[in-house]
Amino acid sequence: MTTRTQVAIIGAGPSGLLLGQLLHKAGIDTVILERQTADYVRGRIRAGILEQVTVDLLKEAGVGERVQREGIVHHSIELVFAGTRHPIDVHGLTGGKVVTAYGQTELTRDLMDARQGLGLPTVYEAADVSVHDFDADKPMVRYRKDGVEHTVQCDFVAGCDGFHGVSRATVKDRITEFERVYPFGWLGVLADVPPASPHAIVYGNSDRGFSLCSMRSLTRSRYYVQCPLDDKVEDWSDKRFWDELRLRLDPGLAGKVITGPSIEKSIAPLRSFVAEPMRFGRLFLAGDAAHIVPPTGAKGLNLAATDVKYLSGAFIEHYRDRSAAGIDTYSQRALRRIWKAERFSWWLTNLMHRFPDTQGFGQRVQEAELDYLVHSRAASTALAENYVGLPL
Ligand code: APR
Ligand code: PHB
Repeated sequence: MTTRTQVAIIGAGPSGLLLGQLLHKAGIDTVILERQTADYVRGRIRAGILEQVTVDLLKEAGVGERVQREGIVHHSIELVFAGTRHPIDVHGLTGGKVVTAYGQTELTRDLMDARQGLGLPTVYEAADVSVHDFDADKPMVRYRKDGVEHTVQCDFVAGCDGFHGVSRATVKDRITEFERVYPFGWLGVLADVPPASPHAIVYGNSDRGFSLCSMRSLTRSRYYVQCPLDDKVEDWSDKRFWDELRLRLDPGLAGKVITGPSIEKSIAPLRSFVAEPMRFGRLFLAGDAAHIVPPTGAKGLNLAATDVKYLSGAFIEHYRDRSAAGIDTYSQRALRRIWKAERFSWWLTNLMHRFPDTQGFGQRVQEAELDYLVHSRAASTALAENYVGLPL
């Protein structure tokens, strides 16, 4: 079967769904092709800190209502090191900017519900998606569904299919990859208990390793501890996790950690990755398809959102103004912001974790930098302005 659309979007993660929503608002037709089932996409658990730019974009896309109502605004973050907690007044240091705690799971649900409510086409369980003729004027995407072959003819293809997707793989000979892998993982636990620190995300550096206190709501907490990459989730009973978390925090905060049964527990590796460029004729990459950051600093979802902002703007300029300017500059504009977030996430990861191969010198430098950071207004401001998100 052959269908036609203006923009074929591969992947129904946050990037693909948000792009579809913004294009719909501008009167542009899309079809989304997703490999997984809708339930699988809805159930994924990931980070949950939104920059103001991301919240504004959700509003612009018509899906900002629940995040504004239920998202929890944070004015500060805290750093724990040497057994002491240090607040960083992000709001004050950035002239009034904040971040919002709102789970990616909730955001995905809002976007899926909106798309479904509008009756826009999304094909779940689309198998063997492949992209063709994107160097010519009339690209197409092929896939198989329930054993039947389909072709989508389109003007543009948006590769929003994540790190393991087909879009980047299709152009792998034309890409330069930049990568750094880190010698540890994050063990994350989700639990229906009130957060120990409801007003600020806490990043902890201790001689036992990194820890993070975050939240999804006033009754649901998200915590992480740095762990060896070869650890298995089964090695970590709930009790072991809670004990370890407390040992990595300052005594005051450790005393506030309320424990309960985990409702999700997983280990994720940490990686920095960028693929350049992000445009190949009429095929564009956006979000995790083009770049990955380690979760320290929560930039992954926010970067995906700004890629989509640039890309939707480029398509709108093409159709509305008959201008190729946005399309021609997409890759360059997106990469400029991406590399700043890559730098920040890499820096914060280096600052807050124990590296197995760090010698005494590296350790002392890390301690000195943390001390400098919390006592220098200039250094705290640099952290704060990156944390809330750099200007577009
Ligand atoms: N065909 C169709 N769909 C695919 C294919 C394929 N060959 N490969 C992957 N997909 C789908 C995945 O199943 C997934 O639903 O593409 C989607 C990509 O979604 P994400 O991985 O969430 O990537 P993205 O939308 O760019 O979101 C970035 O989400 O993963 C987090 O940390 C990341 O916060 C960041 C944000
Ligand atoms: C999360 O809430 O999952 C989270 C928060 C901050 C981070 C990373 C993850 O830097």
